[in-house]
This record gives sequence, C-alpha cells and structure tokens, in this order.
Amino acid sequence: KFNQLVREEPDPIVKTMSLYAQDPSPNKVDVSIGVYKSESGGPYLFPCVAEAKKILAANDPGHNYTNMQGIPEFLEGARRAAFGEKYASEGKLASLQTISGTGALHMAFLFLREAGYTNYYLGVPSWSNYVSMVEHVGGKVTTFNHYREDTKDVDFDSVVATLESAPADSVFIFQTCCHNPTGADYTQEQWTKIAELVKQRSIIPLLDTAYQGFSSGDKEKDAWAIRHFYELGIEFVVSQSFSKNLGLYGERVGAMHAVVQDKEFVPNAQSTLVALFRSECSFAPAFGARVASIVFQSPELQKVWREDVANITKRLKSVRQKVLERLTKLQTPGTWDNVIKQEGLFWYSGLTPAQNDRLISKHSVYSTSIGRVNIAGLSDANINYFCDAVDEVVRA
Ligand code: LMR
Repeated sequence: KFNQLVREEPDPIVKTMSLYAQDPSPNKVDVSIGVYKSESGGPYLFPCVAEAKKILAANDPGHNYTNMQGIPEFLEGARRAAFGEKYASEGKLASLQTISGTGALHMAFLFLREAGYTNYYLGVPSWSNYVSMVEHVGGKVTTFNHYREDTKDVDFDSVVATLESAPADSVFIFQTCCHNPTGADYTQEQWTKIAELVKQRSIIPLLDTAYQGFSSGDKEKDAWAIRHFYELGIEFVVSQSFSKNLGLYGERVGAMHAVVQDKEFVPNAQSTLVALFRSECSFAPAFGARVASIVFQSPELQKVWREDVANITKRLKSVRQKVLERLTKLQTPGTWDNVIKQEGLFWYSGLTPAQNDRLISKHSVYSTSIGRVNIAGLSDANINYFCDAVDEVVRA
C-alpha cells in the first residue's frame, strides 16, 4: 500500500545542493556537490567537448538504438583511458557503457553478486551513496577507517589491518584518486602494499574512478593503481565516470570494466553484463558517449583534453593555496595545511556539523554536512568571503 511508504531523507549532498538553490542571498557560495566550476563560478564547458559537439552536430547519427554493450568507440576509448593503450587491447576486459559512475557502480554490484560476491568493505568517511547502493542489491558493508583526524591523512594501518583480516572473496571498494570526501589518496607505495595483500588474501577490488586526472593533473598517472593491479594478474572491476573529467554530468557517461585474467572467460563476463543491463535499462544514453567518443578518437582533441585537465588541476591547487594563505592571515584557530595536502576537488575541512550549519545559516556558504568543501566552487571573487565565514564559525 502506498500509504505504508516512509518519508525518506534526501542524500546529504543533494540536500545541501537544493538548499543552496533556494537561498536568495547574492553572496551565497556553493561548495557542495562535486562539480568543477570555472574561475568565473559557472559551469565549465571543456573546450574538447565543445569541439566534439560541433563535429557530432555536423554528422548527426540520428536517434536509433545503439548497442546494448555500449557504443564500441566509446568503450574502446574508456578502456584506453583507464587501462592504457597496451592493456586495453589484450582482450582481458569485459566492458559495459553505463549511466555514469553511479550506474557503473550499480552494474558492478550486480555483476559481483552474479559471480557470488556480496561481502563488502569500505573505508570511511566515504561517498554517501556507496552503502545504500550495496545494500539495495542485497550486499553487506563493513567499514574501516580510511582517514585519521589527527594526521588529516590516510589511516594506512587500518587499511592494512582490514585487508589482513577480511575473509577471502570480500570486495574492497577503493577510489583510485581524488578521494571523495577526504582528498586523501594512497601513495604508489601504499597501492603496492594494497595490491600485494589483495592478491595474497583473494580479495576482489572494486576501483572507483570518478575524477581521473584531477589529483596529479595527468590522467595516466591517476590511473596508476588500475594498471598496477592489472599487471599483477589480479581480477577486479572498475567503475568509471566521465562526469567530472569531461564535464558531462547530466549526460550520464560512464563505463564498467571487469578484468578477467583467463581470457577464455571474457565472453561469459561480457554476456553476463549485457544480460544484467537488459534487465536494468537496455541501452545507455547515446549523446554524451558519442561526444566522448569523438574526443577519444581524435589525437588533437585528446591533446586539448590533457591540457584542460592539467589546467583544472592547476587552478584547484592555486585555490587551495589561497585558502591556506587567507586562513593563516586571519589567524583562524586550528591547523589548516591539509587544504594544500589533500588532492582533487575536495577539502575535508574538519569543520563540525554545527559549524557547517552556521556556515549556511549565517553566511550562505554551502559545504556538505560532513565538512567536505568543493574547492572548485571558490575563485578570487569569493575566497576571502568564504575564509572569513570559516573564521567566524570557528571562533563562534
Ligand atoms: C559528489 O560526491 O558530490 C558527486 O559525486 C555527485 C554525487 O552524485 O554525489
């Protein structure tokens, strides 16, 4: 009966985003949902995407159904982006075009369930949607600490201890770069240790890659963990989003890949993915994937894309530096240098929920309730306003 349905709370990220939209203040600052914004504060259209859209418009493919696995050129490019030229073409990957990163995760969870994996481990704090998504498909999540408040960095002892004690055939969800929400990523040395343990203990990693390029400024470097796991002969899955690193948010462009080390079984994995997707939504949306394919296939647009990603990362780093300088100048009580140590879009500020509420109610500054600040929402026009507001709530 419909009257038995409970009223659900919105996701905290989406809740903050809607509160921002309703706020009439001319000073309001949106540092909530993970969207990259330009220096002028508006949405950023990647130059390579602008060019690809023109090419697509001039070669209109119409609106027929595409391919249930996904648009082949898109999947080829997505594989190359994640695994690199060489590994992408070795025939060990089963791939599916998905409804962006969330769709990729959902398909990964279904695929893993089909293969018999339902026991998940997740380092926290983490993206607010993982746990409900796993539970939605009948999986169980155990959490461990990804982050230490005292060092404001990765809690690597906790990661290692959990990998050492988790039962075989557990799935570990890891983010490859730009950790959401902490901005605290693993070093290559730490990834090497993780991969070693994963292999020893028959763990299945799910590598979620939603911000590839925004940690180091180089997409290849940010995919290091994926390629390292592949090289070690580990079986794993990758969920991949092009929302952020191509700015195609609303077009829902993503992919899921399963690495099947014994090539003989790739057709089984591939047909399983297609069968599962048929029951879910049949075909993924075409427009954004076609735009992405044009970028993937053109060496010139690839070059522009690389430069775009490098410039974005440069801007993020410069905003972080300016935030630190302003808070230092204000002598805001506390230590704030984690703002320049953390990478990607997010700064895990350490502000409490009460301080975050006050940022909203008194200053119209919208960061998420767990203190995650989307650095890309800041620019020269509002950095001082934002830092002054942080200073005020810290002293209040
Ligand atoms: C975020 O964490 O803000 C993004 O990944 C957007 C989302 O879907 O939550």
